[in-house]
Amino acid sequence: MKQKNASVWKAVRFLLGYVLRNRALAVICTVCVVLNSLCGIAAPYLLRPIINDYIPAGAAGKLVRAVILLGGIYLLGVLSAWVSARLMIRISQKTTRDIRNDLFARIQTLPVSSLDGKTHGDFMSCFTGDIETINDAVNTALNNILSGIITFVGVVTMMLLISPLLCLISACFLAAMYSLVRFSGSRSRFYFQRQQKQLGALNGYIQEIISGLKVVKVTGHEAQAVEGFQSHNRGLTESANAAQTFAGILMPALGGTASINTAVSLCAGAVFVILGWIDLGSLVAYSQYLSQAGRPVATISNQWNLILAATAGTERIMEVLSQEPEPVSGSVTLSEGSWRTDSGSVACRGAVEFRNVSFSYGETEVLHDISFTAEPGQKIALVGSTGAGKTTILSLLTRFYEPCGGQILLDGIPAGDIRLADLRSCFGAVLQDTHLFTDTVRENIRFGDPEADDAAVVRAAELASADFFLSHLPEGYDSMLSGDGGNLSAGQRQLIAIARGIIAGRPVLLLDEATASVDTWTEHQIEQGMDRLMEGRTVLIIAHRLSTVRNADCILVLEQGRILERGTHQELLDRKGRYYDLYTGAVELS
Ligand SMILES: Nc1ncnc2c1ncn2[C@@H]1O[C@H](COP(=O)(O)OP(=O)(O)O)[C@@H](O)[C@H]1O
Ligand SMILES: [Mg+2]
Repeated sequence: MKQKNASVWKAVRFLLGYVLRNRALAVICTVCVVLNSLCGIAAPYLLRPIINDYIPAGAAGKLVRAVILLGGIYLLGVLSAWVSARLMIRISQKTTRDIRNDLFARIQTLPVSSLDGKTHGDFMSCFTGDIETINDAVNTALNNILSGIITFVGVVTMMLLISPLLCLISACFLAAMYSLVRFSGSRSRFYFQRQQKQLGALNGYIQEIISGLKVVKVTGHEAQAVEGFQSHNRGLTESANAAQTFAGILMPALGGTASINTAVSLCAGAVFVILGWIDLGSLVAYSQYLSQAGRPVATISNQWNLILAATAGTERIMEVLSQEPEPVSGSVTLSEGSWRTDSGSVACRGAVEFRNVSFSYGETEVLHDISFTAEPGQKIALVGSTGAGKTTILSLLTRFYEPCGGQILLDGIPAGDIRLADLRSCFGAVLQDTHLFTDTVRENIRFGDPEADDAAVVRAAELASADFFLSHLPEGYDSMLSGDGGNLSAGQRQLIAIARGIIAGRPVLLLDEATASVDTWTEHQIEQGMDRLMEGRTVLIIAHRLSTVRNADCILVLEQGRILERGTHQELLDRKGRYYDLYTGAVELS
């Protein structure tokens, strides 16, 4: 329980940090809430002189003045409530806007490794469900809880002033109401957490199935998909039901207890009036306070449920925000084509060296003792069966992951010492999974170099052999690509990705099966374009079709994370080893 409370307070403190960014609004809002609560406490006390003195004495003038005063107090209460509600809407909107901004910005800085094992749904639910619960909590819970506390303390104080004995009777019932709240709170928190988790799972499932709809259809898995969805949906409904039930039982139970409290307290109060222990005006005021005393208990409990719902979401958001960003800084920086190191400057040429590099994603090592060099002007090819570790080598070079052992050097400088943005600015990359953005073809190519003009975009497309098909699209370079280029063929998407990768003319070009879906004739065209482009640059190319790497300066044959053979095409053929088997078709690349 202590731990749960601690996590609630941690979440509330986190949210208050955002709320207090709007300090002026928050202060005005708090003043309004306090004012509203004080009005509620002050008003009933005015009934006492009205009933005890003005009515029996027939003092019409005093009565009218008292009623006007009463009206004024109520009006002030209503006004301050209205202002505070308006302000809370603004504060909560700004709060959720800021959290969304921070969340998205943080996700951009996270290392690629922190996304492994997470679904899109996990992140989406932070931005949708979790943010919504936070909005509800900040919008209504914070001010209602504050007003509830002030009202409760004020009302109980007034009741004690009127009659401590009556208070004792009412206190028993209030204690009962408090226990009810505690019990239902602890149960519903558990279910709220489950509800949010299941919402995340449901979102993930929808995302996964819709993006994989073609696979689902072609394998005839529609029925299973619907079944899987229904099971997730059932789980969500059940836990939402349970959470709402525990929250929903509470209000009627509290209402019932409050009514019994009123009846018992009034009967006892009537006896006290007959005995002359208190006056009639006090009893009327007391009954007013009593009806008010139950309300904060109910309100606080209700609002507490909102806080609990928001706590689960806030914890998830806090977890993302607390993750370590990629280490971006480094002592070596790039300026005007030179590396600035402590000991002077080195020309940025794009020479790559791996020295005894090993790496594991988790427990098992997937790269062992990888060493090779790639000089400017050289084309180094990585071949080997699927899962051999080719993509991983490129991922280490771009520092998506850090090696577990050995060293990676760029122009003789350890990659880890180089400022991350400068390091990545040396690479033009065509990754294995092409990703195109919802924008025009032109802008998708320009993504590789925001400074490039339209002529440069066309030049890059020509080198990538994309120009031909692009000029035949109805709107040419201004054609819109939608949903990861879903309106193009896989090969066409790759050609655009290649144009994007080469447009900036970076010193090192990384191609990961960049032409796997392109026909051999176009592939040959691209090769020729590349050879022109890559003079004086370093190319690391992963190729599925061995015919495309025949002219490489060095071919590295990888198997199970090790370099098995290395050499030129002819050397490797002469050796009659693994490469020979692959090339002559004795062994198929899987
Ligand atoms: N993100 C990842 N998390 C865990 N293991 C991975 C990840 N990516 C790849 N692997 C594993 O690392 C090995 C090498 O993968 P990869 O470099 O992609 O192979 P290749 O590109 O040669 O087909 C494979 O066994 C694969 O299962
Ligand atoms: Mg790969």
